[in-house]
Amino acid sequence: NEGMANPKEKTFSFVVVGGGIAGVTCVEQLASQIPSADVALITAGPHIKAVTNYKQVSKLLEEFDVEECPSSVLEEKFHNLTVIHSAVKSLHTQSHTVETADGCVFGYEKLCICSGGRPKLLTQDNPNVLGIRDTDSAQEFQKRLSKAKRIVVVGNGGIALELVYEVEGCEVVWAIKDKAIGNTFFDAGAAQFLIPLLEADKPERASPCKRPRYTTEESAPSCGSGPTEAGSALGPDWHEGIVLRGAEQVSHRVLLQYQCEVEKIFTSEELLNSPQQTVGPENGSWPIYVQLTNGNTFGCDFVVSATGVVPNTEPFLHSNKFALADDGGLQVDDHMMTSEQDVYAAGDVCTACWEHSPLWQQMRLWTQARQMGWYAGRCMVAHLLSEPIELDFCFELFSHITKFFSYKVVLLGKFNGQGLGPNHELLVRCTKGQEYVKVVLSGGRMVGAVLIGETDLEETFENLILNQMDLTPYGEELLNPNIDIEDYFD
Ligand SMILES: Cc1cc2nc3c(=O)[nH]c(=O)nc-3n(C[C@H](O)[C@H](O)[C@H](O)COP(=O)(O)OP(=O)(O)OC[C@H]3O[C@@H](n4cnc5c(N)ncnc54)[C@H](O)[C@@H]3O)c2cc1C
Ligand SMILES: *[C@@H]1O[C@H](CO)[C@@H](O)[C@H](O)[C@H]1NC(C)=O
Ligand SMILES: *[C@@H]1O[C@H](CO)[C@@H](O)[C@H](O)[C@H]1NC(C)=O
Repeated sequence: NEGMANPKEKTFSFVVVGGGIAGVTCVEQLASQIPSADVALITAGPHIKAVTNYKQVSKLLEEFDVEECPSSVLEEKFHNLTVIHSAVKSLHTQSHTVETADGCVFGYEKLCICSGGRPKLLTQDNPNVLGIRDTDSAQEFQKRLSKAKRIVVVGNGGIALELVYEVEGCEVVWAIKDKAIGNTFFDAGAAQFLIPLLEADKPERASPCKRPRYTTEESAPSCGSGPTEAGSALGPDWHEGIVLRGAEQVSHRVLLQYQCEVEKIFTSEELLNSPQQTVGPENGSWPIYVQLTNGNTFGCDFVVSATGVVPNTEPFLHSNKFALADDGGLQVDDHMMTSEQDVYAAGDVCTACWEHSPLWQQMRLWTQARQMGWYAGRCMVAHLLSEPIELDFCFELFSHITKFFSYKVVLLGKFNGQGLGPNHELLVRCTKGQEYVKVVLSGGRMVGAVLIGETDLEETFENLILNQMDLTPYGEELLNPNIDIEDYFD
């Protein structure tokens, strides 16, 4: 494959758009299943994301590292793969072609859109409102933080949670719309377990992070095209190796503002011009002010908007009528197919619209980006060869391993009682500073669990959820720490 210098059309069997985890995993599947197929990966950023050190922890739980690397790594591995560094500008499903920003047109037999998402911003063009998405935006954040005395963080998902915990030497006002922190992942009990950690001085980092860190140098070899387009989303441990330290000497100072949203954002000039506006002990010396719906107004150096992502769909919508989900994602069925013929989608850009297993839900996470990319690749191959394919087992049970506030966190199934209504029971065991175990039961059967700390319960609980055994006879004994629960169910 000798470069695509001229804008003449070339047709590939498979075209994948996006060099994040979903796109790269999809390409790997396609290229390894049909080595003779012409595969193209079209991606906007200079680097791609590769999964390394993949480890299956149990039937469904998986752990892996993510590395940003030059695309040549993929091309060396798969000889019939062409990586094209340009953004897709438009898609024409009638003619089965995509057009890139540099004016090239490529044909496809089957296309998979893995263009990810971008952070939802409170306002579009305020330089004092930042979103964190990729390495560039994380660097910008770090730079700004080193001079900051106070920041306002808006949002209650995983990113906000990590950020608030990691930031030192800067006062953090944290505005969340829920009654408890980390609502996307936890219930009020788990939040209670974690909150003391926001107030305490942080322990020295004892164990070094085992995952490769994201460094802040511009070290990754570039693959030619300029860094103009947005890159892939950062992944687990994105803050490791990035010193999140502000200008002040304080360790942790977090001011929580519950059940509120941002009402208005203004500059200091706007504030001076609206004398009815009260800002408590503040005066007009902050670069930006945030008025919350609870009536409080805070001046700060900048605002971090961490309120989730918007699927990157626009370039694909101009001349097509994709069915979109309420969250703006491309609707996909149980074969990862969108509503347009021969167009598949995977990862953050898509919304799973098949009838879900009662124990699974979509969350825009690394693990699901990998699983969907993998499965989309399998489906594209199966369809090309007219072979049957069934929904993969990984969509049977939601499972995710992560780390919050330095604790290992395992989430299984309907870990927050999602969609269960009042007909469920919770069993909780909590040892302050050590572990938090919560089990969700419905009709006596385990349907979800939250495990924080080194509980060693994940495999047993995964089995209990998968086999839907009636646990009524065990009652609260299920969480008795003096019983080796594994022996019980062997
Ligand atoms: C700060 C942060 C922390 C996170 N932490 C975690 C975590 O701890 N655990 C976890 O599980 N998940 C985490 N996530 C979520 C996780 O990163 C995403 O779910 C995952 O990366 C999605 O992968 P993807 O391949 O679908 O999309 P992305 O990784 O966003 O990749 C999209 C790719 O498409 C390319 N692209 C976009 N538009 C175009 C176009 N028009 N033409 C060509 N190419 C295009 C981009 O350049 C990029 O390469 C975090 C996200 C952020 C932002
Ligand atoms: C690339 O594809 C050609 C056919 O198009 C095939 O002969 C060749 O073996 C493939 N290369 C590899 C490394 O699989
Ligand atoms: C008002 O701003 C000035 C700097 O412009 C600062 O020195 C002063 O302490 C501020 N006053 C209050 C009450 O914050």
